[in-house]
Amino acid sequence: MTVFPIMNYKGKWLVDYFRIFFPRWVYYKLGLSKAPIDCFIILTHNCNSRCIMCNYWQNHEKDEITVEQIRQLLRSPSLRHLKGIELTGGETLLRPDLPEIIKTVYDETGIKPVLATNGMLPRVLDKLLSTHKQYIAGVTMSFDGLKEVNNQIRGQMTFELAMQSVEVIKKYGLKPGISMTLMRNNFDKLKETYEFFKNEDFTYKPVQTTPYHFGNNNSTDLSLSDEMKKHIIETAKTLPITNLYDAFMEEWLLKADRPTPCYAGTGGVVITAKGEIQPCIHKPSIGNALKEGFENIWHSQKAESFRKNVAPNCKDCYQRCTTHSYALEMPKWVAKYRWKKFKNLFLK
Ligand SMILES: C[S@@+](CC[C@H](N)C(=O)[O-])C[C@H]1O[C@@H](n2cnc3c(N)ncnc32)[C@H](O)[C@@H]1O
Ligand code: SF4
Ligand code: SF4
Repeated sequence: MTVFPIMNYKGKWLVDYFRIFFPRWVYYKLGLSKAPIDCFIILTHNCNSRCIMCNYWQNHEKDEITVEQIRQLLRSPSLRHLKGIELTGGETLLRPDLPEIIKTVYDETGIKPVLATNGMLPRVLDKLLSTHKQYIAGVTMSFDGLKEVNNQIRGQMTFELAMQSVEVIKKYGLKPGISMTLMRNNFDKLKETYEFFKNEDFTYKPVQTTPYHFGNNNSTDLSLSDEMKKHIIETAKTLPITNLYDAFMEEWLLKADRPTPCYAGTGGVVITAKGEIQPCIHKPSIGNALKEGFENIWHSQKAESFRKNVAPNCKDCYQRCTTHSYALEMPKWVAKYRWKKFKNLFLK
């Protein structure tokens, strides 16, 4: 499940590209607009899971952005060009007002958000989908392996409960997005996890640390050794490529190389549960929208400096969510991918 269906570069992606993304790209390049196309709203910094690679569950914060504050934020002129919105956390289903939030996002922007959940509350998810399915583009869930490994990483019973949520999602005619985070504990479980979920929208990503998301997991050492990275790359070669994010995992893992420069802070924005505005999940807040107003922050010196000096050269991450705005330069990704395939076939 992706925020932008175009990321799967199937069917009429080029038509969609020229219709939706190319005009924005031109605006950005000419400096005529900084309005993002992609927005992450972190609804809560709390969680009911116990994942080893993410510390959100250690938070017990009550103060969270309200439905009304989300409504006002989405009315900011710079947020009127959004093409995709992801609601994430923490655990989104812990928000009792999630149905209102989803409806508000839809009413204000016309965009059906993608909902991220750990799947531990299948009954709550069922209730939500029974009334709000029509306002939701899709639901992404996390599995970090099959039962034993997943539960060791994410906590007891997480596999069983999340599988119930997968069934709930399917019952409503949606295709679950399954996301696997690769770390020391499961780097060799990619193949079996893929095989299990291959009929869903499966993707994977390397573990990352950051003080600005994942409940500040900076001091957790889950980094992959070179041997582990090689193992992942070899396994990945045996899996079909269904989206271009996965297609460049090898380049990222070996050379920290992204196919195109990052558009964080221009094409993408993160709004946290406290109203902080981050250019991406890995970089610090550039201001608090609830105190300073979104427009003031987005057009501030700080934001401008990030756009000019940080994002275009940054190679600090290759998180699927942080590459969403790659739809802006989709033809380059497709061309690079085709060239890579050609080289592998004929030049090796
Ligand atoms: C922070 S979670 C929020 C949504 C929900 N609670 C869940 O677990 O899916 C969003 C995604 O980040 C992934 N994630 C968590 N910790 C991570 C880390 N240290 N590095 C990379 N991805 C991570 C999760 O596995 C999940 O796919
Ligand atoms: S990855 Fe998701 S489920 Fe796990 S602790 Fe973080 S927010 Fe919670
Ligand atoms: S590459 Fe850098 S600026 Fe871009 S999303 Fe990743 S950490 Fe943020």
